[in-house]
Amino acid sequence: MSISRDSFHSRIGFVLSAAGSAIGLGNIWGFPTNAANNGGGAFLFVYLIVTLLLALPALFAEIYIGNQAQKNPVSALGEACANRMPRIGRTVGKIGLCGAIMMLSFYTIVAGWMLAHALSAISELTGFIGLSSWLASDSTVRNVVFTPVFILLGAAIVHQGVHGGIEKWSARLMPLLLVMLIGLIVYILQQEGAGEGLAVYLIPDFSQVTDPKLVISAMGQAFFSLSIGVGGMMVYGSYMQKDKDLGKLVLSIGILDTMIAFLAGLLIIPALFVAQHAGHEIFNNEQLIGEGQLIFQILPALFNSMGTVGLIVAAGFFSLLSIAALTSTISSTEVPVSYLVEEKALSRKKATWLVSFIVLCSSMLLVAFFDVLFALVIRVLTTIFQPLSCLFYFLVVGWIWNRGNKLTDKAVLDNNVYLKLWGNYLRFVCPVLLTIVFINVAF
Ligand code: PHE
Repeated sequence: MSISRDSFHSRIGFVLSAAGSAIGLGNIWGFPTNAANNGGGAFLFVYLIVTLLLALPALFAEIYIGNQAQKNPVSALGEACANRMPRIGRTVGKIGLCGAIMMLSFYTIVAGWMLAHALSAISELTGFIGLSSWLASDSTVRNVVFTPVFILLGAAIVHQGVHGGIEKWSARLMPLLLVMLIGLIVYILQQEGAGEGLAVYLIPDFSQVTDPKLVISAMGQAFFSLSIGVGGMMVYGSYMQKDKDLGKLVLSIGILDTMIAFLAGLLIIPALFVAQHAGHEIFNNEQLIGEGQLIFQILPALFNSMGTVGLIVAAGFFSLLSIAALTSTISSTEVPVSYLVEEKALSRKKATWLVSFIVLCSSMLLVAFFDVLFALVIRVLTTIFQPLSCLFYFLVVGWIWNRGNKLTDKAVLDNNVYLKLWGNYLRFVCPVLLTIVFINVAF
């Protein structure tokens, strides 16, 4: 008899965990800086459209495959393609495992920086000035220490299982994140200069809307932000009971993710203008200076100039980023772990340690060849890997599964017009839209 699978115990637990995967550095760091550099409100506007038209359907397709199969991503894709090309389904699933490792290899490095900065503020507050400046300064040694710490934190949650680890911790950390974010926004908006930042963020510069670069950045941002295409959402979907209202759950995940990205914009962009007001240079030829500099130099400098309160704000800000990164890390870790547990009969503990070890090796490779590999891996994942995986999900749901459109089959049975329309949208429109954007990005 097969051992029953671990699972989420409630729909809210599932939504919070999936939102935890989606809400990460992409929302709190990527979205605001992308928005500020691409016409503020105009970016927000295009982002919302791209999310509705393409990213949410892709998220639905990914979660739906997992939810129907109730299996890890390799078996789920194998089963979905069983009638036509089972081997190809499994192979794509296995390639997906590499995507998760790729994501973790750079994400845990950046998450380590966030953790180091949070501890730097705390050490300064408690009088450990030397330690604080070491923690705040960029160095390979710091990467070698903090990346493994972050990988361990993720492993500590994943090895406790889906309900006892992922669901429990997501349900604790997500509300905490929201409270911290709102607290920081309230504080920053009261500082001088914040109003100017609000205007830049919220008043669209529509002259930029037609810029293809903007549409492409918005799409990359939306796919990364919703964690689509590396299997994390598929595996979470598989831990949910089969659900008739999956569409609604996917929509709530999308709304939560977009809401946090929007709120992060209300924090970061005004904070930058507060920094400008305090004499820090934030623009270079009308573009915001590099993202890294903004987060790791300008904002800490601003917090420092605010005295003790500033240090508390800094500790809060970087803890917020660390928490967001942690709940995203666990979803990608779960992808290979679920495969090893279900297909290679490893215990969850062993599987978690094995995956963590592989992630550690690959992230250390990135640390060792940082200048060559770091940006390259991010680019390959976000511009090639994620869109191509999504295209495959659309094809699976729309064309391959049950020798036809999985959704319309059900629509015929249920005689549901909306479901039929939705099925045809996924089947015809989404793959074409995605291909057009992909060609624009890749060439
Ligand atoms: N969505 C996460 C973020 O916004 C990143 C992520 C990408 C997580 C892919 C899992 C898979 O930071």
